[in-house]
Amino acid sequence: MPAFPAMNPTETSAPIWSDSLLLGHAAIDGEHEQLAELIERMRCAAAPEMAQALDAVLQHAASHFAAENELMRTTAFPPRDCHISEHEAVLSTLRGVRARLARGEVEVARRVADELAAWFPPHVQHLDSALTHWLCKLQHGAKPVVLRVGRKPEAALAC
Ligand SMILES: [Fe+2]
Ligand SMILES: [Fe+2]
Repeated sequence: MPAFPAMNPTETSAPIWSDSLLLGHAAIDGEHEQLAELIERMRCAAAPEMAQALDAVLQHAASHFAAENELMRTTAFPPRDCHISEHEAVLSTLRGVRARLARGEVEVARRVADELAAWFPPHVQHLDSALTHWLCKLQHGAKPVVLRVGRKPEAALAC
């Protein structure tokens, strides 16, 4: 199973979502918050619910990554190849885990949920942040302004 890029296993127990992940692009921010919630659900899923939880993450991630890939291609975002490759690596890993889960390997799915939780924030703060800056500059000629109102992160779901 290929590892997620830029994993940081020390952060796996913290809640995923916080205002520090807001990028100032409403559509992308909304999709990110939803993906973080789905990953939290997968981390806490009991064995009988794991397939449904993983399918929900896979479906949302595939749709979100496709939307970002399209934005990168249509605007000729310079470092798009690296970003698109990272999306593909994550989807490939999740599909492989889905196949193993179908053979009863629930612990593999649980581990990959933790890896995904550790991978997601740095991906948003580095690669997705660069993309939203690029999009905002193209549209408005300036960097996005993000107002963070000090909303506390939701507590992680109780497992
Ligand atoms: Fe991305
Ligand atoms: Fe993203």
